[in-house]
Amino acid sequence: MIKMTKKKEKCKDDIIVLEDVWKVYRMGEIEVPALQGLSMSVKPCEFIGVMGPSGSGKSTAMNMIGCLDTPTKGRILLEKKDISRMSESELAQVRGRVIGFVFQQFNLMPNLTAQGNVMLPMMFQDMDPLEREDRSYELLDRVGLGKRIHHKPKELSGGEQQRVAIARALANDPDVILADEPTGNLDTKSGAEIMALLGELHEDGKTIVMVTHDTRQEEYVDRVLRLQDGKIINGDDETYS
Ligand SMILES: Nc1ncnc2c1ncn2[C@@H]1O[C@H](COP(=O)(O)OP(=O)(O)OP(=O)(O)O)[C@@H](O)[C@H]1O
Ligand SMILES: [Mg+2]
Repeated sequence: MIKMTKKKEKCKDDIIVLEDVWKVYRMGEIEVPALQGLSMSVKPCEFIGVMGPSGSGKSTAMNMIGCLDTPTKGRILLEKKDISRMSESELAQVRGRVIGFVFQQFNLMPNLTAQGNVMLPMMFQDMDPLEREDRSYELLDRVGLGKRIHHKPKELSGGEQQRVAIARALANDPDVILADEPTGNLDTKSGAEIMALLGELHEDGKTIVMVTHDTRQEEYVDRVLRLQDGKIINGDDETYS
């Protein structure tokens, strides 16, 4: 009972809020409106699927939520803090503490081992070296790669590389995992394994926002947001399962 109350308490306030967010890229004389009044909100512990045609602004939205870029107009709140007007260094701080990224292309450092890749984000947070090492073992074990810690990315399969990327995303125990087509480069079996892993993280209470083109993955998520032309085209609270 106590646990339930706590979860309810934790899940009361939105963890991510976008209010009328616009992003206009400038290409010389040409303006490319990637986001055109995007509004959405996410509760803590939710698993959100983001779908929509190529070019609809999915990755742009993820970059904004993940503190990699700021909007041209509008407001973004992450854990109730307005991140839309933060400086580069403030954004980097919030990003390191709150966000874990998983990308379609894995984006691992090719010259570092699995363990080196997982330890990297911890270095930026000034974690004690021994603690870093212990935590990297734990995380790689958790994603089923306890026996691959000294392998470099090119010595790992695509599915294994994505597991390393997930372990790296968990390095600083972020509240929010942002995954941009995490299974886009994987075969069906590896993709299903990665989805199972994300499902476990969701069970553990992580908030996950995942871009996907794969309608079969709808079964894993609490809610699907559909983007078109830089805004949501379904109701914010539609498709709750
Ligand atoms: N850095 C950039 N400079 C200029 N235009 C950009 C930039 N990044 C994205 N765009 C444009 O913004 C629009 C949205 O791009 P975005 O990458 O967010 O789409 P997406 O929904 O993630 O597409 P996909 O499914 O192909 O990954 C596109 O028209 C794209 O060409
Ligand atoms: Mg994209």
